[in-house]
Amino acid sequence: MDPFENLAAAARRIDASYKEYLASPSAGFVLTDRFFAPSGNIIACGDNLEFIKWLSEDDRKIPAPDFIYIDPPFFTGTDQLARLRLATGENDPLLLSKRAYSDKSSSGIGPYLTHLGVRLAAMRDIMADTGVIAVHLDWHAVHYVKLLMDGVFGSGRMVNELIWSYRSGGFGSKGFAKKHDTILVYSKSKDYYFKPQKEKSYNRGFKPYRFKGVKEYEDENGWYTLVNHRDVINLDMVPRSSPERTGYATQKPLKLAELLLESFAPPGGSCCDFYAGSGTLAEAACRKGNAFACCDVSPAAFATAAKRLAGAGASFDLMTQNGLSFEAAPEISFEMADRQIFMDGSTHYSLTECGRDVEKLGLRGKALESLRKALASNPLALAEFAAAGSIEDGCFKARRVFLPASKGRELTVSAVPSDTHIKVWDKFGGSALQKISPMV
Ligand SMILES: C[S@@+](CC[C@H](N)C(=O)[O-])C[C@H]1O[C@@H](n2cnc3c(N)ncnc32)[C@H](O)[C@@H]1O
Repeated sequence: MDPFENLAAAARRIDASYKEYLASPSAGFVLTDRFFAPSGNIIACGDNLEFIKWLSEDDRKIPAPDFIYIDPPFFTGTDQLARLRLATGENDPLLLSKRAYSDKSSSGIGPYLTHLGVRLAAMRDIMADTGVIAVHLDWHAVHYVKLLMDGVFGSGRMVNELIWSYRSGGFGSKGFAKKHDTILVYSKSKDYYFKPQKEKSYNRGFKPYRFKGVKEYEDENGWYTLVNHRDVINLDMVPRSSPERTGYATQKPLKLAELLLESFAPPGGSCCDFYAGSGTLAEAACRKGNAFACCDVSPAAFATAAKRLAGAGASFDLMTQNGLSFEAAPEISFEMADRQIFMDGSTHYSLTECGRDVEKLGLRGKALESLRKALASNPLALAEFAAAGSIEDGCFKARRVFLPASKGRELTVSAVPSDTHIKVWDKFGGSALQKISPMV
């Protein structure tokens, strides 16, 4: 591979694709579900270029983003697998690996750069003039993307090359162990928002200096002062056993997203993540009080992010790209039985089944067999979460959200008299709506 030839070809292709992008209308996105109150926050399922185009067609959809974070596929040459935990009804859950997205760029770095280049130009166009963008990559492609960013934003607009350093990952038997990612930060103009963050700097010998006017602190390691954060961020990946873990491949730590957001988005400002995955930036935005619009092309990522945000009590809209053909047809069915009516007027429904045609999921051999077995022993194994609400203006308005209990073997929905429907989402991004008639 000649990287320079690839870069030159990519630059020509980016120019052509960008002209085409500017000239063509977006496929458009439709609102399917609204969680809680109207908010302007969006989780969208579709191609991000279509989504950015759609956002740019009417600037009242969202405010121009103050901060954009993207964590695109890293050009690793492998499929990224999401590990789904399915409650089997027995002691151990079934861990099913399902392709979350393909990061196989068999045709080389050129097409990868073309894909990213046209999107970076589109992101630059919709950002606030004082906006900042952070692009998360690793050694596979970051050096090529740095050149792309220089082309799209200007080399003088580079704010930081952040190193996220972690302990897990590479073994290093044939070179140093690869244990960091790189985050390229660029601003749209020279006037941008930045709030310095503080980190601990331990005193020599961990002893107090007692300098006049210098504030010192003590923790279990010893004495330290607070200094402006370096461009190296030491933070572990989300541990396997952490409640933060969603099971989505390549999930990034919430703390990392929070640090970036606090540094580059003004309080109450808006942010976007166009390769949203499990919705890490959206959850950080929800915690910090920032508006968000996020997009992912994978229905499994979409369902994971929706569950995560709904579970966190965030208000947001779910939107889907017009005409998007889902790889696994999102048709699911569920049955409800055991309706119980309570004194407070609520009706409790215990879901008995959350099914779908598993043949259409693209699983084969042992994986398909294990999934069938899990469903036979626990008909709720596929259920991700449920909501009770009503249909208004053609979309489902979720007023209360319910997560599976008893290690995934029970899902009870409590509906009040104004609720007319229950909706259930499954682990592969499918959803099904059922009408109910709670007792008054
Ligand atoms: C590295 S993951 C993001 C992980 C995320 N930061 C998190 O913390 O969960 C990259 C994501 O980009 C998505 N993706 C790839 N191509 C896309 C496209 N053209 N439009 C939207 N999303 C895309 C994949 O489905 C995948 O979820």
